[in-house]
Amino acid sequence: MTLRLPREEDAEVAYEWDRDPELAAWNGRPPIRISFSAARRDYLARWEDPSVKTFIIEARDGEVSEAVGLATLYDFRRMGCELGIKIGSKDLRGRGYASEAVELLVDYCFDTLGLRVVRGSTLSHNLRMQRVFEKCGFKESGDGSIISRFDNKRYTEIFYERRRDG
Ligand SMILES: CC(C)(COP(=O)(O)OP(=O)(O)OC[C@H]1O[C@@H](n2cnc3c(N)ncnc32)[C@H](O)[C@@H]1OP(=O)(O)O)[C@@H](O)C(=O)NCCC(=O)NCCS
Repeated sequence: MTLRLPREEDAEVAYEWDRDPELAAWNGRPPIRISFSAARRDYLARWEDPSVKTFIIEARDGEVSEAVGLATLYDFRRMGCELGIKIGSKDLRGRGYASEAVELLVDYCFDTLGLRVVRGSTLSHNLRMQRVFEKCGFKESGDGSIISRFDNKRYTEIFYERRRDG
């Protein structure tokens, strides 16, 4: 597994993932409905935006490297940032890619960006993401109630953080 910066040609797979209702539901959002060309414009602008750092999670299968997911660092404030992550294809989940990516991103936040805290959150029924946070040394820091824009239902969101000093 490696992390790399997004390239123009990643817009296609990013669009495919953002149109997937199941993936959107995990993020409490409806799948996007805009055209590929509009989405592509948005992606390219976001990938250039210095206040958001996007990484493509790439896995190697023999000689071929494939984009398997996407991770984002955003909301940089108070010496910290928020981390979001997805593995696009169902078949590729549960192989340790997210845990490995989160470990690398936390190291990058602390060692390269000099941050003190990395924050994250997930819905209370997302046991896989909770496990990833726990495996990567995050601690629960609270919870809240949110209305999902996917189905307009109320869910509990669990907040996590990993502090540099433990
Ligand atoms: C959540 C997600 C990013 C995790 O990525 P992943 O590569 O599948 O995660 P990993 O393989 O590194 O680790 C998953 C862990 O959850 C565990 N797990 C899987 N299903 C589980 C379940 N139903 N209950 C509890 N734990 C579960 C796995 O066993 C593994 O833990 P282990 O290494 O101790 O065995 C990925 O599944 C995904 O993209 N899901 C859809 C989108 C999403 O939920 N994004 C996060 C929104 S906040």
